[in-house]
Amino acid sequence: MNRSLVSRRDLNRRALAWALMPWLSAAAQAQAVSGAVQGAGPRWQVDPFSLGVASGQPQPGSVVLWTRLRITEADAAFKAQSMSVVCEVFGDAALRQPVRQWRVQTDASRAHSVHVVASGLQPGRHYWYRFVCGSATSPVGHACTSPGINDPVDRLRIALASCQHYEQGYFVAHREMAQRDLDLVLFVGDYIYESSNPQYMLRKHVGAVPTLLDEYRERHAQYKSDADLRACHAAHTWLMTWDDHEVVNDYANDLDNKFNDPQVFLRRRAAAYQAYFEHMPVRLGPDPASPSQMRIHDRMAWGQLADLWTLDCRQYRDHQACPDPNRGGGRVVVGCEALANPSRSMLGVAQEQWFTEGLTRSTRRWKLVGQSTQMSSSGVNTPLGRSAFTDGWDGYPQARARILATVAEAGLSNVVVLGGDVHMNVAAQLRVQPNDERSPVVASEIVTTSITSRGLGEKLLAQIRESNPDIVHARSDERGYTLLDVRPEGVSAEFRTTANPARADGVFKTQAQWAIRSGVAGVQKA
Ligand SMILES: [Fe+2]
Repeated sequence: MNRSLVSRRDLNRRALAWALMPWLSAAAQAQAVSGAVQGAGPRWQVDPFSLGVASGQPQPGSVVLWTRLRITEADAAFKAQSMSVVCEVFGDAALRQPVRQWRVQTDASRAHSVHVVASGLQPGRHYWYRFVCGSATSPVGHACTSPGINDPVDRLRIALASCQHYEQGYFVAHREMAQRDLDLVLFVGDYIYESSNPQYMLRKHVGAVPTLLDEYRERHAQYKSDADLRACHAAHTWLMTWDDHEVVNDYANDLDNKFNDPQVFLRRRAAAYQAYFEHMPVRLGPDPASPSQMRIHDRMAWGQLADLWTLDCRQYRDHQACPDPNRGGGRVVVGCEALANPSRSMLGVAQEQWFTEGLTRSTRRWKLVGQSTQMSSSGVNTPLGRSAFTDGWDGYPQARARILATVAEAGLSNVVVLGGDVHMNVAAQLRVQPNDERSPVVASEIVTTSITSRGLGEKLLAQIRESNPDIVHARSDERGYTLLDVRPEGVSAEFRTTANPARADGVFKTQAQWAIRSGVAGVQKA
């Protein structure tokens, strides 16, 4: 038996015990530092691993392991230095079975972040890892590799999450996710927020709205100062995509919501993307030849059970149709003719083609599509016609119809679109012609509510429900995440929620559970 092989039940016990252990506390870290083998290197006054550790983008033989040295004034002499960091990977939670280790250099040009693509690992296995730099040792993280691409796999458990405005609540959803037995966390955007709403402030951002690299770095570091968020990163391997607030509200490609000169905005976007990369367990950073570009869209397989896409709905999209010339960004419109233009795209031509080609060729049981927002229509019928919010998929209806027509024409029955952004739990049927019973249901949609960000008022939500029979569940009054249990015969989606706002002592319950049966497009009451 390979030393990293542990039974599922054994693993579940270990994962739970691990999640509940106080290793993430500062006191325990100090013990770990004193007990660690100390190589040459800096002797730290203050723990540089205060932002925690993370793993992401698993492949059958590899996974990305991340940390960043956060160097304080007490260790100011190290700020300008290149640092050597060792990453150790183990096959067991007690760290008695070393598997491999890597030594990497990092410096201030990348905010002393560390990304190790831990390769040469076994598929479908669980690993534990930590980083060492001089006298300091990081907390321990748990990571998994994905199963072999043709392995028969009978289960995939995902926590779907998005929209964690730091000021609007506590990250208690991450505390519960950290303690669960999961394969992956799928985070679909609004990891940080650049802006504030003084109406809803349980805690405060440090600093003003970021526009420069150091300001975005500070914002990311503040979010990772949250112990619950760090615990969820340490406990699970994440897949990620982004939405707008990682840069600025409602940006579209090279245009921000104030119509600034695209060249000026692209410099801001480059700063935001660089800071995003420096704080996330992702394989690729900004393109060195064109730093305002960074590929985040990706596709992975979970054995024969599922293909899982993470799509980028921001970087390549066409600008919002019919904008308010004084305001920019998205808005609610009625009678906007530009929406009918078939050349407009949410994903950009290249990504849309890559995605739909992959979708039609996929032979795996489930096709799970992680993307930023709600795909089903949420327009409202008014005396002047149907409304459309131009920042969401309703602002790109031809692109949506094109993707769903591809699903229909290829006869794919097991496409499940997973989204966030709208701060409400949604279960919906997807048709080529939304809400038209003559247009068959071709795919299913599950949208998760926000971790903390405020949702729509009940009055507007009632109008949305009334105007959209395809939406079979919509609730914006609670915060949380969604637990997806993917099995060969079906997918179950459990909306896990706490009262709004998410308080530090928030208690979770199941708001509703929806099911999707293999071979039958559409969501059904579980
Ligand atoms: Fe959001």
